[in-house]
Amino acid sequence: MNLESVRKELLDRAKKADNPREVLRSKKLKELYKVLPTLTAAERPEYGQKLNALKKELEELIKVLEAEKLNETVTLIDITAPWAPNTPVNERPALLTMDHGSRHPLMTELERVVRIYNLMGFAAIESRQLDDDFHMFETLNFPPNHPARDSYDSFKTQEGFVPPAHTSTMQYRILQNGKKELEAGGQIAVVSYGRVFRNEDLDAVHEHTFYQCEGVFVSSDATLGQMIAVLREFFEAYYEQKLRIKTQPAYFPFVEPGLEFLIEKPASLGGKGWLEMLGCGMIHPNVLKMAGIDPNKYRGFAWGGGIERLVMLKYGINDIRYFESGKLRFLKEFK
Ligand code: PHE
Repeated sequence: MNLESVRKELLDRAKKADNPREVLRSKKLKELYKVLPTLTAAERPEYGQKLNALKKELEELIKVLEAEKLNETVTLIDITAPWAPNTPVNERPALLTMDHGSRHPLMTELERVVRIYNLMGFAAIESRQLDDDFHMFETLNFPPNHPARDSYDSFKTQEGFVPPAHTSTMQYRILQNGKKELEAGGQIAVVSYGRVFRNEDLDAVHEHTFYQCEGVFVSSDATLGQMIAVLREFFEAYYEQKLRIKTQPAYFPFVEPGLEFLIEKPASLGGKGWLEMLGCGMIHPNVLKMAGIDPNKYRGFAWGGGIERLVMLKYGINDIRYFESGKLRFLKEFK
């Protein structure tokens, strides 16, 4: 059998076949292999090399042919193209608009919030989006099975991790981290910000996912009066005007006394009535103790509240669900 003539025939066949790969299993090719044992030891190496070269050549050709076939049958979709995938070529826009995305308004505002606290002397750290029972409840003076746990109900993984329901999960870490500074005569002044998660019935003012900013301050003589001054300062800086404020009693296991902090909605923002902005209070002695800080020597205050609420009042946004919705019409208003 003439190897050269069979080679041409096989390459030709592959080019014409619907499934070029079949040529590798063809009788013709097998017959070429059957010749091998009939050759003398002197003839065999040369023939063998030629045969291997032919097989390689065939395989490479098949790969090219298969790629070509794929291109014929599959229309490649460019998911980044600014038209629907099946828009015919002649209906695609001739000129493309430069419509870039933009920063999410929440991130812009969060940065503003943190900047104000920075200027007041607070360091800032981001909170975690996955935490554990220890930081979510235990270190915050929630005894096991305490009913107050219910208001911070979310999920739990099999390993016992929880998506945190408030940024207070960072309190223990902030306290522990600042202990040395405190003992050296300094103070702890840190805000923590980040995403939190709740089991909520959703409506215009309740969302399952939102952002909070939390403050922790500890010194040898911190007072509730200082806390209220810090909060007033913050809100007046954020809304760039004088505000009327008030507090009312509230319960959180990790503060004593616990308060809610309210501001009167400024008339300049079309507001009327009072708006509860955050929860706050003097850090509970048990929380300090747990973090290794002596409550007889040091006092602290903490506060925490939602970012969306702040931003909604500032810009007259009437539905909290816009923030996580990805609605472009909403987002474009903040470009
Ligand atoms: N973590 C509380 C909440 O989200 C708010 C809070 C923070 C209250 C710090 C007191 C002190 O409901």
